[in-house]
Order: sequence, then C-alpha cells, then structure tokens
Amino acid sequence: MTEVKIKTAFAAAHPNIALIKYWGKSTRDGHNEPAVSSLSITLDTLLTETRVRFDPQLDDDIFLLNGKQDEQKLSRISRNLDKLRQLAGVTTRCEVASSNNFPTAAGLASSASGFAALVAAGDRALQLDLSFAQKSMLARSMSGSAARSIGGGFIKIALQNSGPEDAVFGRAFAEQIAPAEHWPLEICVGIASESEKAIGSTEGMELSRTTSPYYDAWLAGNDQDIADAEQMVITRDFEKLAELSEFSCLKMHALALASRPGLLYWSGATVEAMHCLRDLRAAGVPVFFTIDAGPQIKAVCAPGYGDRVAEALQSVNGIRRVIRCGLGCGVRVTD
Ligand code: DP6
Repeated sequence: MTEVKIKTAFAAAHPNIALIKYWGKSTRDGHNEPAVSSLSITLDTLLTETRVRFDPQLDDDIFLLNGKQDEQKLSRISRNLDKLRQLAGVTTRCEVASSNNFPTAAGLASSASGFAALVAAGDRALQLDLSFAQKSMLARSMSGSAARSIGGGFIKIALQNSGPEDAVFGRAFAEQIAPAEHWPLEICVGIASESEKAIGSTEGMELSRTTSPYYDAWLAGNDQDIADAEQMVITRDFEKLAELSEFSCLKMHALALASRPGLLYWSGATVEAMHCLRDLRAAGVPVFFTIDAGPQIKAVCAPGYGDRVAEALQSVNGIRRVIRCGLGCGVRVTD
C-alpha cells in the first residue's frame, strides 16, 4: 500500500426520487443490496457539491458538511473512502467537504446525491476510471438510492439485470431508462419540516423487514410494478404512471406503518397535501404525489403544469415552502 501525493477533485450530484420505491435490503450479503428493484427520476435544482482532498499529512479522514465538521456521518463516509482506497491500492486519508443547497436527512435524498458525488470525486482524485455501473455499485453499497443518482433522467435498478456477485462492488447497479429530455416532467417539493428525520431509512427498512406482516406481499409485487412503470415512462403515459407511483408510495408507507413500532413519516401537512393533489388531479391537472422517509411531499406533474401545482401546494396549511425542480443530469466531475 502506498500514499498518494495531494489529490483533489470536485463533483456535483442531484438527489433523485423513486416512483417505484426501494424499501428493504437483501439478507444475502454485506453490500447493502436492495431486496427490491426501484425506478426513479433525478432532479435538477437540488444539488450536493463535494470536494475530496487525499492528503498524506492527514492522520484521519475528515468530513465537513456545509462547512461544519460532522463526526456522526464520518464513519459511513470513511467506509466509502476505504473502498476507493482499496481499489487504488493506497492508504492516504482524505478530507471530504460537502455542501447541500437543501435540508439534509429530511427525506430529500441527501444521502443519494451525497454518496454519488463522493464516489465520482474519489474516482477522479484517485484516477480509478470506474465505469458507470461500478460507480453506481460503490454508491449503492453506501446508500441504495445513491446508486440511482449516478445517472440522470429516468433510472432503474433492476435486480433481474444484476451481474454476478463481485467481492468489492457487490451486484445491483442502476441504468438509465430515458434521458431527462425524453419527458420533461416538473416536480414541486413541498417542505413540511426542515429538521432531520427521527428514524433513518436504513433503520426503518430493517424494522419493516423483520416485523411488518406485509413484507412478503411487498416483495412479491415488485417485478410487475417495475416492468409496468418502465413501459409507462417509455410511452409517456402520465395517467397510468400517476396511479402506479401513488400505489407504490402508499404501499411502502403501509408496510412501514405496519412495522412494530409503526413508522409514521407523515405530518398533518403531508396528508393535507396528498388530498390537495388528488383533488387537483380529479379536476383535470396531471399531477401525482410521492413521499419518502420524511414529511416532505413531492408533486410530479406533466410539463407545463408546475405553476399551477406549486401554487396549490403552497396554499396547504403547514407547507413552509415549495422548491421547483425539473429533471436533472447524472453526477459530474466539476473541476
Ligand atoms: C424511501 O437509499 O436512504 O427514499 O440504502 O439504507 O441508505 P439506505 O437507504 P436509502 O433509502 C431510500 C428509501 C426511499 C425510497 C427510495 O428512494 O427508493
């Protein structure tokens, strides 16, 4: 093992939101393999920017989030750096400085954009020249949804397409179904709370796997949901995708709610916003909602309807602000 001279690189990545949700991990191995396939859209507007600096003067890794040292998240970051170091055959410690232009760990997929940016910056700094699939697998080993932020537009992790088990990378990786330009959907993110969630998704999905009576049914329906959603994206069938995405979201939350103790990620504002968006759809506006492990509500609408949806969402009691997004690109090195 050797030390590298100072190596710095920058990368930027966007969060993604799943329309067909990932919730539950495989019990087979230690690579954070998902138990279900998932399908997502990568957003623009929301952004994580990361700088990595491998420096032989450092005794330990350092992680700075939005300018402040963050000891709590350091061990997970270090595990990711260890994999990159293993691939490069070096031991040099690293300073990672990351900033998000949106609330961290509040159900806005900051771990997705965070690990995607870290892997891409680390890949560049250590000149590993990893493929798309390899970057996706490294990001996935840290956070399942991060595998999808490597790519832009419409992305899936299809477990049926996973390759053979690899000792470093594991198995499941993301692939692009269609680029952002294929169908420029608009997204309005309704912020119901800016604080970090009480139970993170890693812990929450383990609780659901081990205690929720609905877990087997959740696994059983996944292949069909993915196949159908991919077809709806390809044919741009908004109405069918709206119904299926809300189904996947509510099915995931039903599974989480039926865990012991039950996982209730919604606030009152989340529920009011769900009603508001359904009323809007009933009135002819092509919009649907999706919600992850936090109270924020994401309204996805057909191109051209963002103003109308943002206005409606903003008027819901308890929605503090609305962030407008379109579909974004995958992770990129920015130096
Ligand atoms: C509800 O990717 O955060 O957002 O792999 O444990 O880090 P870990 O989980 P994470 O889970 C995301 C869960 C979700 C649904 C989704 O994005 O598919």
